[in-house]
Amino acid sequence: MKIYVPRDAAAKALGADAVAAAIQAEAARRGLNVTVIRNGTRGMVWLEPLVEVETATGRVAFGPVCAKDVPALFEAGWQDHPKALGPTEDLPWMKAQTRLTFARCGVIDPLNLDDYRAHGGLKGLERALSMTGAAMVDEVKASGLRGRGGAGFPTGIKWDTVRQAKADQKYIVCNADEGDSGTFADRMLMEGDPYTLIEGMVIAGLACGATRGYIYSRSEYPDANATMREAIALARAAGVIGPSVLGSAHAFDLELRVGAGAYVCGEETALLNSLEGKRGVVRAKPPLPALEGFLGKPTVVNNVISLATVPVIFERGAATYAALGIGRSRGTIPLQIAGNVARGGLFEAAFGMSLGEIVDDLAGGTASGRPVKAVQVGGPLGAYFPRALFATPFGYEEYAGQGGLIGHAGIVVFDDSADMLKQARFAMEFCAIESCGKCTPCRIGAVRGVETVDRIARGDAAAIPLLTDLCETMKSGSLCALGGFTPYPVMSALTHFPDDFTATHKEAAE
Ligand code: NAI
Ligand code: SF4
Repeated sequence: MKIYVPRDAAAKALGADAVAAAIQAEAARRGLNVTVIRNGTRGMVWLEPLVEVETATGRVAFGPVCAKDVPALFEAGWQDHPKALGPTEDLPWMKAQTRLTFARCGVIDPLNLDDYRAHGGLKGLERALSMTGAAMVDEVKASGLRGRGGAGFPTGIKWDTVRQAKADQKYIVCNADEGDSGTFADRMLMEGDPYTLIEGMVIAGLACGATRGYIYSRSEYPDANATMREAIALARAAGVIGPSVLGSAHAFDLELRVGAGAYVCGEETALLNSLEGKRGVVRAKPPLPALEGFLGKPTVVNNVISLATVPVIFERGAATYAALGIGRSRGTIPLQIAGNVARGGLFEAAFGMSLGEIVDDLAGGTASGRPVKAVQVGGPLGAYFPRALFATPFGYEEYAGQGGLIGHAGIVVFDDSADMLKQARFAMEFCAIESCGKCTPCRIGAVRGVETVDRIARGDAAAIPLLTDLCETMKSGSLCALGGFTPYPVMSALTHFPDDFTATHKEAAE
């Protein structure tokens, strides 16, 4: 009997280790031959720890399971039990998804290469090995894949810049410094299907002529880091990476580096400085990292999800991927639903879902049962969307058109008890704390921003145009997205929730 208990950090935080131990102990007590496999998560965080049992007709799910449920689950023969949810693939959350990047996550044993291969792993790389670098780049261009870290720059064009650059050494750097609030797709992928990321990086290396790669992760992700380290060692031992990729004439090797925990190190040039052992300060662009990146050499810097999507594009073909989505947003996007929601987790879908569908239908509204007031999309630098904008389809241009951004696709929901003035203050304070200090609009502006919001909170209406003016300066004068995008949450809060910025509102609240 095979039983799956996730090893994902969110599942562990909810007691998965204790559940796995209880299953082992109960099986031993009953003299049953049970193999416990620690898989990644399926992404239904509200059901974690989600235990799955393999049956002749597929896997059936139970959740959320706690250690004390285990004896009764064995007693019921892992069938009729209040925690039984039915076949995993038939759960509405699973059925409604288009899982491409996350197809294997939660399904396979993350570190078992045979399991990876049995589920389509390495097929993309095998195909890539039969192609020229130019053809590989064309495949990525044709897929329409854009940077999933947030900026949405076309991945194929970035690769082409690196491919065509002349240099004795080029690098592939994976940005795994996932710092946006409410996001966890990078972590979930690294913990649940690490070989997909490795495979994507190898393909990027072959396409661009790079023989070395680095994954820049964060110290806050100890589980993901341990899994990635082990996966890299196992991939090297199996000849997937190293001097001869899958027995070919191509070499590619990679290593994991862990940052010390600065939000700004998710910005690609600060990341490169940190990777080089320097302080994580933003560099001016140009030169682009694609031409002068790590150690001054041409470097692809891509987010985890961008790179981890490459294998499925090569396995199934660019046209299949590009057939999904809307407008210039092609393929799928792993939505990460968090905050005050009844059902939170990761949901991979073709671009185009409306925010209303995501928040009301998928997430089931708020956990508090109160009305939804605002939804912040795209991390701490993303805009707050009011219900009036819930028809907005999920896409890069569609969100930009509403004064927002999809960023890394983090969706954080707030109920009507949220004070949007406090959220605006938080954005400025966050920027002041996380600023690298290189440019004045951000370093000084964010501090003045906190003070200005405080003046408004004290009933000084004259400070409102000052805040608007300051946001304009930060937006147009900052060197990177941290200072340049902080105005998004601030101005969207002010524009869509003006009542929260008036003296009468404050008095009423007090
Ligand atoms: P950007 O627009 O400056 O650059 C996008 C990417 O395209 C960069 O890698 C840049 O080097 C590359 N690029 C631009 N022109 C190119 C060319 N001609 N050839 C080759 N490459 C080229 O945006 P930036 O500052 O890199 O990212 C900002 C985004 O990051 C924001 O939208 C925000 O949502 C997101 N973000 C994500 C976080 C996360 O945790 N994932 C955290 C903070 C921000
Ligand atoms: Fe540094 Fe802020 Fe300027 Fe970015 S905007 S370079 S984080 S000071």
